[in-house]
Amino acid sequence: MSTAVLEMPTPTPTRTASVPAGLDRIVLTGFMGSGKTTVGAMLAEQLGWRFLDLDHEIEQREGRSVPQIFAESGEQHFRRLETAALASLLGQRRVVLALGGGVPEELGNRLLLEQTPRTAVVYLAAEFATLIERCRRQGIERPVLADEAVAAERFARRKPHYERISGHRIESKTAEESVRALLAKLNTAASLG
Ligand code: S3P
Repeated sequence: MSTAVLEMPTPTPTRTASVPAGLDRIVLTGFMGSGKTTVGAMLAEQLGWRFLDLDHEIEQREGRSVPQIFAESGEQHFRRLETAALASLLGQRRVVLALGGGVPEELGNRLLLEQTPRTAVVYLAAEFATLIERCRRQGIERPVLADEAVAAERFARRKPHYERISGHRIESKTAEESVRALLAKLNTAASLG
């Protein structure tokens, strides 16, 4: 009896949602704990696009974790790596990109985001207390959260930047609701032209 192995075709991702044809990138911004990674991965899956996480990209390039980079090389060095990774990821098409919470604080990063065409920047907004509570529950090590009072100052400083760089704002919801609201906003904005 023949024992030929059947080649299984690579499954094509099932696309269950779409965005206007002119859009190549959706960038998610917001403070730590705002759900950028969860919402971004879910959105990318529905669009059949690739999901990219800026922190993950930096870790891959460096071969060390974000907390390790902070501890061994300092925050300034991390910020330089962050800008370089952002510039290169913004060159990709059909991607959902989750930024790190500190990205909009750097003027250079804000300019990069502003000047990249066919890109929608979306702010996942929530109150500071909600964000902190979520981060604590996640238990992920975040160097910037070591001191809550300092984190609160960073949040206050960044908030206007999150708002200014974003074309759309989604209030804190479950990930499913956020994805639905985000798709509705992007598609409505296009129809208003
Ligand atoms: C940071 C946020 C983190 C990560 C790093 C610094 C910040 O990303 O980039 O720990 O300055 O807010 P998330 O927002 O994805 O947690």
